[in-house]
Amino acid sequence: MNAGRRMGLNSLAGKVFVTAGLGGMSGAQPKAAKIAGCIGVIAEVYPQALRKRLEQGWLDTYSEDLEEIINLIKENRKNNSTISIGYLGNVVDLWERLAQEDENLVELGSDQTSCHNPFLGGYYPVGISVEEANRMMTAEPEKFQNSVRESLRRQIAAIDKLARKGMYFWDYGNAFLVECQRAGANMLKENALDDKDFRYPSYMQDIMGDIFSMGFGPFRWVCTSGSPDDLHATDLVAVSVIDKLLKDQNLPENVRQQYEDNKRWIEQAEENKLVVGTQVFSNVRIFLNSQIQARILYSDRAGRIALAKAFNALVKDNTIKSPVVISRDHHDVSGTDSPFRETSNITDGSAFTADMAVQNCIGDSFRGATWVALHNGGGVGWGDVINGGFGLLLDGTPDAERRAEGMLNWDVTNGVARRSWSGNSNAQEAIKRAQKEVIGCFNCPNYLTLINLIRCPD
Ligand SMILES: NC(=O)c1ccc[n+]([C@@H]2O[C@H](COP(=O)([O-])OP(=O)(O)OC[C@H]3O[C@@H](n4cnc5c(N)ncnc54)[C@H](O)[C@@H]3O)[C@@H](O)[C@H]2O)c1
Repeated sequence: MNAGRRMGLNSLAGKVFVTAGLGGMSGAQPKAAKIAGCIGVIAEVYPQALRKRLEQGWLDTYSEDLEEIINLIKENRKNNSTISIGYLGNVVDLWERLAQEDENLVELGSDQTSCHNPFLGGYYPVGISVEEANRMMTAEPEKFQNSVRESLRRQIAAIDKLARKGMYFWDYGNAFLVECQRAGANMLKENALDDKDFRYPSYMQDIMGDIFSMGFGPFRWVCTSGSPDDLHATDLVAVSVIDKLLKDQNLPENVRQQYEDNKRWIEQAEENKLVVGTQVFSNVRIFLNSQIQARILYSDRAGRIALAKAFNALVKDNTIKSPVVISRDHHDVSGTDSPFRETSNITDGSAFTADMAVQNCIGDSFRGATWVALHNGGGVGWGDVINGGFGLLLDGTPDAERRAEGMLNWDVTNGVARRSWSGNSNAQEAIKRAQKEVIGCFNCPNYLTLINLIRCPD
């Protein structure tokens, strides 16, 4: 939806989104396309990965035949349909076939292959079978790497052609643009300011950075009972919490839009089988407890606190069987210093320090987290990022409510403040609202009040 808004579209009905990857994270793309209301076309070279998404119901249909894919796109465009279509094959073949059409068939494009690791199985080059590629990458690494580079150059050439016809393309945080550049493609704007001033945006600069700066990020909860009924009860409560937040007449329009999008997400989560923690992915041997009932919902400071309090009340009055644990992803407002991803839109130079994640984690621990974790490598690889995370048990007690409020205030506002200092206008707006709502005044001179985000005694 956010990418569509960049094109001035308020509805994605009948619009086409093309991308690649049906793996661990990328496998969510067909579902996201459906929820956003567009026609999602996702290429995947591994039959097992594609089959999994079909069985799950996240893909509606698939084909190995490019002509059939083109017909499906045309037919569904005509009918303004919402559908997710898998293409079993290499994404380069798909892009090149789309670029042959006179008519532009694609409004939105991206890529979610594991391009951050292109030479060891993250990216499969066109024209070579998966089996042969798997053999070549260790037996003939140089030859394989040249094939990857050539494939990336072909992919970006086809994307360029469609972009000239009006398609909006963005990098999905998988290093696609930088790998195309390393492969020898010219990726820069005409008057590029530096060697990373790419002509396509990264999702962080263009979409997520602003969302994080507003304080919105992937809030997560787990029903420790493992009961789907409990998860259902928390979903219903989450919708009513958002409805209540939407009643605020002073809500800025961009915040209202986020709440509305996320309300739509959570209303459809159960129907769309969006339970986190039950999947075993073919290429990742992690076996998760099939009883885990967990949800992710993007929310901001006020929303996360309201959700935590409402869940605590459900535990207290025994509407649900046992406590709820709240947490979040590392891909969030404050918990991660990652100059090539999460903090890449912090432009005052501080993106290259690792202090925000540490402050965030330590601050969370003192404010009431049940546990915290500080680690390295999340998303972009070892040495390029530091991540802080937490878990907090809501056991229905007043103390749990107090700790959740104090800790969540810090957990979100810490990063919003940092983004505000770097000059991001969304963050400046969000931090003013936080000061007003939490402390009670805009320009509080009381340093301790600001640091602890407690109501000003004056
Ligand atoms: N934007 C975000 O929020 C976000 C979040 C997590 C991960 N990521 C990034 O997204 C990327 C994908 O993550 P993942 O967990 O899905 O990885 P994954 O390796 O599980 O899945 C990638 C899939 O792409 C397929 N693929 C590779 N080359 C292909 C090609 N040429 N044509 C068609 N299919 C091809 C692979 O077979 C694989 O199934 C990673 O680089 C990761 O860092 C982004």
